[in-house]
Amino acid sequence: MNGLNIIQHPLVQHKLTFLRDRNTPHTDFRRLTRELTGFMLYEVMKDFPLQEIEVETPLIKTKTQVLAREISIVLILRAGLGMVDGLLDLVPSARVGHVGLYRDEKTLHPVEYYVKLPQNLSETDVIIIDPMLATGGSAVDAIHLVKESGAKTIRFVCMVAAPEGVRNLRSKHSDVPIYTAALDERLNENGYILPGLGDAGDRLFGTK
Ligand code: PRP
Ligand code: URA
Repeated sequence: MNGLNIIQHPLVQHKLTFLRDRNTPHTDFRRLTRELTGFMLYEVMKDFPLQEIEVETPLIKTKTQVLAREISIVLILRAGLGMVDGLLDLVPSARVGHVGLYRDEKTLHPVEYYVKLPQNLSETDVIIIDPMLATGGSAVDAIHLVKESGAKTIRFVCMVAAPEGVRNLRSKHSDVPIYTAALDERLNENGYILPGLGDAGDRLFGTK
């Protein structure tokens, strides 16, 4: 599908397998989420613009390149917390925004409880992170909030996506590409992704 990038790198797929395994304890789940997110970032950022600068090596002056724009990461609480360090390991200068959303268990609609975003979103490349794209309701709302704050270049990164969520997100925000490690089969009657990996927040934080 247009705008959907499934990252097939063997290391990403290898780590995703252990994230799916119900026997993986939360300590390993947390580490694997961080590592997998870092690997995904190579693909997400592969066409980010560069600008030329001059540096002096120990021998001579030379022209070289650095990222042209600042990067902002916006994480969807709470499970997005598990991914943020994987990105900050590689882009330590990124500013970090937080969007607090939880899914109402009955309606599956997202409920907003916290928003704090960097001020200069319009001048940065924004990467929104949440491990799970299920109905897509949370991602659609988070992207809406980020756009309201002025963001123009936005990418959405998750670990597992359902076809329902991809369709929803692409229909509401066709300008936002999706990056995922897997496109799974479908949602179950409770809005969980099948085969999925369960409740990402609970598995990250050991709350169930
Ligand atoms: C999970 C997940 C996403 C959302 C995805 O969060 O981390 O934010 O569900 O579902 P959707 O695509 O149908 O909106 P949850 O609501 O369980 O909150 P939590 O991270 O605080 O546990
Ligand atoms: N949120 C999760 O954490 N897992 C799912 O499968 C769906 C939504």
